[in-house]
Order: sequence, then C-alpha cells, then structure tokens
Amino acid sequence: MATVRTALARAARCLALAGVENAEREAVWLLAHVQGCSAGALRLRGEQELGPGAEASFKALVERRAGREPIQYVLGTEEFLGMTFKVTPAVLIPRLDTEVLVREVAARLLGPASVADVGTGSGVIAVGLAALLPQVTVVAVDISPEALAVARENAAANGVAGRVKFRLGDLMEPLVGQQFDAIVSNPPYIAEGEWAGLMPEVRQWEPKGALTPGDDSLLFYRRLAGGAPSLLKPGGILAVEVGIGQAQAVGQLFAAAGLTVAIHQDSAGVERVVLGQLD
Ligand SMILES: C[S@@+](CC[C@H](N)C(=O)[O-])C[C@H]1O[C@@H](n2cnc3c(N)ncnc32)[C@H](O)[C@@H]1O
Repeated sequence: MATVRTALARAARCLALAGVENAEREAVWLLAHVQGCSAGALRLRGEQELGPGAEASFKALVERRAGREPIQYVLGTEEFLGMTFKVTPAVLIPRLDTEVLVREVAARLLGPASVADVGTGSGVIAVGLAALLPQVTVVAVDISPEALAVARENAAANGVAGRVKFRLGDLMEPLVGQQFDAIVSNPPYIAEGEWAGLMPEVRQWEPKGALTPGDDSLLFYRRLAGGAPSLLKPGGILAVEVGIGQAQAVGQLFAAAGLTVAIHQDSAGVERVVLGQLD
C-alpha cells in the first residue's frame, strides 16, 4: 500500500512527464483535496498509508491533471478576492488580474449603487463587488446558461444571492431600459489568430466563447462603447479588463463614445483596466 510520501513522489513524476510545471506542488494540492486536509498537514503525514479508496481517488485526479485539465477544474474551485468560487469547464477560470478591475470599480462606488456585470462567467466580478460593497445591487449577464448556473451557485455560496440578479442574453440586451452607476466587463479579448499558441490547459479546456470574440480582438469593446453610455446614469462608469497592448485602443474607443478615460495597471505594470466616465 502506498504511503503519502510514495504516492506523492509517483504523482509528481507522472505530472512532470506530462509537462505540468509545478508538478510536486500540484501533487500535494491534489492529495490534500482527496484527504480533506491542508497541504501543510499532508506534509506531516508522509509515512501514513493511503487507504485503497483514497489511492484510487488520487490516481483519478492525477490522471485528469496529467491530461492537462487545469488544476482548478480538477479541484472544482478557485480563489478570488479571498473568496472561494466554484469553477467548471462551463466558465473561465478567474484570473488574479481581474481583481484589479473589481478593486478599481469598488473604489469609485460610494453608497447605494446599481452595477451591471456583462459576461459574468463564474460570477467573480458581480459577486466580488456585491461582497465588497454591501449597498450595491448587481445585474449579471451571460450568453451561456451553463455559466449563469455556476455564477448563481457562487452568489449563494458567498452570501450575496439577494443582491445579484442573473440574466441570460447577448451583451447589454438584457439591460435595456435600465440605468446603472457602473457597467463592468471582462469580455473575450483574445484574437482567433492567437488561439493555437495558447497553453493546452486554456485551449483544450476553457470555454472558447469566453476567450475569443473571433478575428477582431476589440469587438466587445466596440460594442460596449457603442451601447453602454445610454445605459449609464450621469457620472456613471464603463470599466473593462483588457489584454496586453489593448488599453490605448480601447481608451480611444471609449473617448470617441464621449467618455472621460483613465487607464490602470495591474501589479506587473501591464495596462489592464480601462475606465470611461460619463459627464
Ligand atoms: C473572459 S470571460 C469573463 C468571465 C468572468 N467575468 C471573469 O472575469 O472571470 C467572458 C464571459 O463573457 C461571456 N460572453 C461571451 N459572449 C457574450 C455575449 N455576446 N453576451 C454576453 N456574454 C458573453 C462568456 O460566456 C464568458 O462567460
């Protein structure tokens, strides 16, 4: 029977052979998940034997990860703003960069405010803003019913279901007739031509409709700039995450739509958030 130590060593070899970068660390996370303990606690149990059930469960998870399924889908969760979010292959895995967008928007919303999150995916932006700002209500839109189901679960699990409504539809179409203090979006922005160069975890597992708008990487920014101003209250903001090198072009689109533009960097110094404010 394998011990924790021998099972971890075998799994790390298997993951490394499959090209997983942090093979040892990920093996620990996977076994800790199976054992229902922290990674630190697991390291203290090196000579403990795994039961046959745990060994089989661990092997199954390691095989999934060796197939380059993202660790977040294998574990079923990802952390965002210190909260835990369910993730499945129906939703983009939330990225740390997106926390910059949430924090920049949160810093500008004082008191009661209404927010729309366009392309909500797992719901991290909508749920994150509702959790940070107790006086905010959010309408979260996605074109994928499967993503909305995950987002709804995440709102409930993080205690904000009463202040986040979910709407199925194309971009801002479900918002027509309403007025918001902020419209926030992390839309698909990877050009189709870049698809083949993405890591297998992204290319083979994450939903393509969440990542690429097709050949025109700025398509969603054009549509947002065109439609958002009429849905904003006076002084309202349109805030988006952008890909590397897109901020200036998106800023120009927002300026042409009559918005006053500010650009914010992420922790790596990349221009990551474009914010447009209506007069
Ligand atoms: C880049 S993901 C962002 C997910 C999440 N907001 C986040 O930041 O992790 C883009 C999301 O937009 C959704 N989407 C794509 N096209 C859309 C459209 N035309 N209308 C509404 N949502 C759309 C996708 O289903 C996906 O969930």
